[in-house]
Amino acid sequence: MTTHTVPTAPIAGQKPGTSGLRKKTPVFMGAHYLENFVQAIFDVVGAEGKTFVLGGDGRYFNDRAAQVILRMAAANGAARVIVGQGAILSTPAASHLIRSHRTDGGIILSASHNPGGPTEDFGIKFNMPNGGPAPESVTEAMYLRTTQMTGYRILDAQDIELASVGRVMLGAMVVDVVDPVADYAALMESLFDFPAIARLFAGGFRMRMDSMCAVTGPYAVEILERRLGAAAGTVINAVPLPDFGGMHPDPNPTWAKALMDEMLGPDAPDFGAASDGDGDRNMVVGAGVYVSPSDSLAVLAANAHLAPGYAAGLKGVARSMPTSAAVDRVAQRLGIACYETPTGWKFFGNLLDAGLATLCGEESFGTGSDHVREKDGLWAVLLWLNILAVRGQSAAQILAEHWAEYGRNYYSRHDFEAIPTDKADAMMAVLRGSLLDLEGMELEGLSVAAADDFAYTDPVDGSVSKAQGVRILFADGSRIVLRLSGTGTEGATLRLYLERYAPGPDGLDLDPQAALAPIIRAAHRLAQIEAFTGRVAPDVIT
Ligand code: G1P
Ligand code: ZN
Repeated sequence: MTTHTVPTAPIAGQKPGTSGLRKKTPVFMGAHYLENFVQAIFDVVGAEGKTFVLGGDGRYFNDRAAQVILRMAAANGAARVIVGQGAILSTPAASHLIRSHRTDGGIILSASHNPGGPTEDFGIKFNMPNGGPAPESVTEAMYLRTTQMTGYRILDAQDIELASVGRVMLGAMVVDVVDPVADYAALMESLFDFPAIARLFAGGFRMRMDSMCAVTGPYAVEILERRLGAAAGTVINAVPLPDFGGMHPDPNPTWAKALMDEMLGPDAPDFGAASDGDGDRNMVVGAGVYVSPSDSLAVLAANAHLAPGYAAGLKGVARSMPTSAAVDRVAQRLGIACYETPTGWKFFGNLLDAGLATLCGEESFGTGSDHVREKDGLWAVLLWLNILAVRGQSAAQILAEHWAEYGRNYYSRHDFEAIPTDKADAMMAVLRGSLLDLEGMELEGLSVAAADDFAYTDPVDGSVSKAQGVRILFADGSRIVLRLSGTGTEGATLRLYLERYAPGPDGLDLDPQAALAPIIRAAHRLAQIEAFTGRVAPDVIT
């Protein structure tokens, strides 16, 4: 087998965002596109003599891309690649393999919760030896490299067999094809009280897990049905498909509607959950009760000690700024620190590495802990199951008791999608310019106590992130946050986050949109959303 250098020119626009490089699948399949970016990765992190993990969420082109990356890793001198069988690995499972095998990092193929297929989305990202996504300094260096590319190295070889577990050679490089589920399932078994959860299922507890035809199917079947004894068929949409069966694998009430209908309908199972394309996001829902991600984080923090992996208590918790302050109240009660970070999982990495936080979460259906360096959908589901099993209560009871004890942070996110970018930018600029004038303003029966543009200083490395979102705080503790999405693909997406605190014991049973109505009206007036964007109502409400 010989190594080839294929001459190429730089390809414009290969700029990775916080979740790696994401483009439409045909773009990735275009001549040299994938290859150029992979070469940039290897040029920046170095491949000679190194060991990497490789896998993806199984979407269209995942298998082809994996073969190309393996040939390029071999040509660039890598010593060994650990690849999931069939080139499959969920994002949290990849993070775990990177860490547990003390590798030099890993390449994950996914566009997360975005649809897959020949005309849908594809993505690639590099994770560091700590198992977490590459920081901006590294992705920037990769981008710079793509602009200088003159050629990429690839081995002249046929596809290798990834369908069965075992060791094969690719040139001088070792390829270890591993069961994508085994190590991850063992990690979960080390963290949670599997016998208690198994007893729960044996007692007739019914669950519905919607894997949305994405990567968690095999993980959920192995863990829930085989190891924990949940009834066969508990996991639905359990076979990962290249196009996710046409589903939009984003676990929220809009896209996991069938699950929501079942859980809120008659004869609902006791507990329901869904996860996204690559398995890092989760939604949990009890019989008759939706659990918002912010509330989920708070309940998990308050009860984590019931799981063996967290029996010693939490070192601290962290949430993204727009996530509700429900978890702050739990941290206060526990006497532990609560960190408020900008949006995006990467900001949790330093806190987890430094042992400052154990649990972290975002309002966008992401929850996780220091067991890996990615958010982890099934982990969250299993922690909930562990808590349900030990407390012997329903999710609805646990939530009601939580609110009675801590009060309730009514919460909702309104997304306004595909706004012309100039209009969205103008709106934010005017809002930012008016922050000083807002203080003391009265509207909708609310009084503005403070307004700012969120800035964050990382407590570990001292780095400063500015302009992370406008916060408007009212005297009664209610809050409005506005920011523009960093992951949208079409125009700008305005995210409007709304929060109101009800101390209880009364007024805990309102519909969130009704409870938040005055705050929603105040937000529209303060930000002049209609004047700037022409929109009066959001496209998506979560
Ligand atoms: C969105 C979510 C954010 C999450 C990110 C990646 O980013 O809001 O919490 O970390 O996707 O999954 P946004 O589009 O808001 O920038
Ligand atoms: Zn994801």
